[in-house]
Amino acid sequence: MISDEIMKNQLNNTLQKTDLSIGEKYQGKVRDNYFVDDKIIMITSDRISAFDHVLGTIPFKGQVLNQISLFWFNMTRDIVKNHLIESPDPNVMVTKKCKKIPIEMVVRGYLTGSLWRAYEKGERILYGIKFNQGLKKQQKFGMPIVTPSTKEEYGKHDMPITQKEIIEKGILPREQYEKIEEAAVKLFERGTKIAADNNLILVDTKYEFGLDENDEIVLIDEIHTPDSSRFWVKDKYKDLFNQGRDQERLDKEHLRKWLMAKGFSGEGTPPKLDDDIRMQVAMMYIDLYQRITGQEFKPEAGNVLERIKENLSEYM
Ligand SMILES: Nc1ncnc2c1ncn2[C@@H]1O[C@H](COP(=O)(O)OP(=O)(O)OP(=O)(O)O)[C@@H](O)[C@H]1O
Ligand SMILES: [Mg+2]
Repeated sequence: MISDEIMKNQLNNTLQKTDLSIGEKYQGKVRDNYFVDDKIIMITSDRISAFDHVLGTIPFKGQVLNQISLFWFNMTRDIVKNHLIESPDPNVMVTKKCKKIPIEMVVRGYLTGSLWRAYEKGERILYGIKFNQGLKKQQKFGMPIVTPSTKEEYGKHDMPITQKEIIEKGILPREQYEKIEEAAVKLFERGTKIAADNNLILVDTKYEFGLDENDEIVLIDEIHTPDSSRFWVKDKYKDLFNQGRDQERLDKEHLRKWLMAKGFSGEGTPPKLDDDIRMQVAMMYIDLYQRITGQEFKPEAGNVLERIKENLSEYM
């Protein structure tokens, strides 16, 4: 594990934002994306969000997220082409710019989250799929299910959509929809298998696809990161499920609890993250990196922005 000293030093070296003079910048909650010609330079910052607010930065978080995505792009390229070209810096991925397919492909292995909330209210047909009576919270499905949603603009909630609507509305031809659905399921199965080898459950996740210049399907955005997926601990699942207790979540749950203890759950001004919580959350992300990849995390300490500028010099 990484020493307290490295962690403490990094508190003042995190990457809050970038302002590079390349291409056209598009800033997400976590990533700064620069669109240049036929490429996107995707810089994962150390920003963290919870309850839809960006709250501050976490040491090494950008490196963790970027390198988890890298790991999965490399582990799944035999299933479907992806947009990764190279990673010139631990926080950066250079990708091929594609024509976006405006649908988020969500794949779920378990009845949880928004799906559980709808089921609990008595809804039995969701995303065009019929669900049996008597299912329990966090129950495993017989096979993974695909629940696509439209990708809406910032501030609007993504809306569920069925395969039928996607085809009828002309968002995608049937053949292409079937291809991305098949790819999404195969990616999820691969993710599930690798996660299981490391005592994790890939509970659910979201994929985005695009089309390249030859109209071929390409996996874009990020894959199986803690920002796009939910993970549980595999060998604890059964006991917790049988006892009717919630699964242990390996993500921002600890931070959310800390925020709620300070009286913040989305409304008003968020509290300032102190050094202790920033270091605890950093450890959680590093732990997750190691669990997911089965590899030791090698922190790239020092000023992240300066390093990125150096590593991206050939793009500027
Ligand atoms: N290869 C690609 N070609 C074209 N667009 C892409 C590609 N990869 C990702 N994108 C898009 O680039 C954008 C990246 O934005 P980013 O994920 O940083 O922020 P966001 O999705 O707007 O918000 P959030 O921070 O909540 O994720 C997304 O709209 C994503 O769909
Ligand atoms: Mg995004």
